[in-house]
Amino acid sequence: MAAALGVVRTESSRKGNGVDIAECVVLVTGGASGLGPAAVKKFLGAGAQVVIADLPSPPGADIAAELGKRVIFKATDVTSEAQVTAAMDAGRELGTLRVAVNCAGVSSAVKKVGEGGPFPLAELSQVIQVDLVGTFNVLRPAAERIGQAEEVGGERGVIINTASIAAFDGHTSCSADVCVMGLMRVPDPPARTSAFTVPPQPDGPQ
Ligand SMILES: NC(=O)c1ccc[n+]([C@@H]2O[C@H](COP(=O)([O-])OP(=O)(O)OC[C@H]3O[C@@H](n4cnc5c(N)ncnc54)[C@H](O)[C@@H]3O)[C@@H](O)[C@H]2O)c1
Repeated sequence: MAAALGVVRTESSRKGNGVDIAECVVLVTGGASGLGPAAVKKFLGAGAQVVIADLPSPPGADIAAELGKRVIFKATDVTSEAQVTAAMDAGRELGTLRVAVNCAGVSSAVKKVGEGGPFPLAELSQVIQVDLVGTFNVLRPAAERIGQAEEVGGERGVIINTASIAAFDGHTSCSADVCVMGLMRVPDPPARTSAFTVPPQPDGPQ
């Protein structure tokens, strides 16, 4: 399916036709800023219906209103089980959830020991809570729902998680990235979903 977007590829989409993006509901967390709106527009351009799940603060609702009827905004804290469920339920009015894109995150470029002393533990906890727990909190119900969707062209859907290549480079602020990368190495065969990184673009963000 994702091969049609030219963004991600799956084994099965290389073998068969996969799912037509135009028939999919795509949930994009963190869809109000940075990587999120870029993903929203990419999927929208491919014909999908999109649910933007982001914190209630602007500009999530404005972006959705601007992009038209195939996009809805649902105020969502990804660390809340109830709010993530509500965001996925909201997408039902648009169709079947087949794609979940985890872009919600907070970054923390703090060294383990810097001029101000050791890395503040509260800050690390927040990054882990949003970037790791939040990613998993979206991944697991998405895997359940996508796993229940009808199989089309050998696929049911895909889950895309984002984390920095810094996870492998040993940058100063890569703890949560390392954890998210770990999550991506555990696909869920029973649900027939997979987790992928979006390959870094040569001239894009790393
Ligand atoms: N931009 C890059 O080049 C890049 C590269 C690698 C990894 N990342 C990681 O990807 C993630 C997104 O990056 P970005 O540049 O798009 O960041 P960004 O700050 O522009 O956007 C993050 C979005 O996540 C939302 N968000 C934060 N906490 C949330 C929560 N609890 N629930 C729901 N939404 C929440 C924010 O409101 C915001 O809209 C970050 O974790 C970042 O560290 C970014």
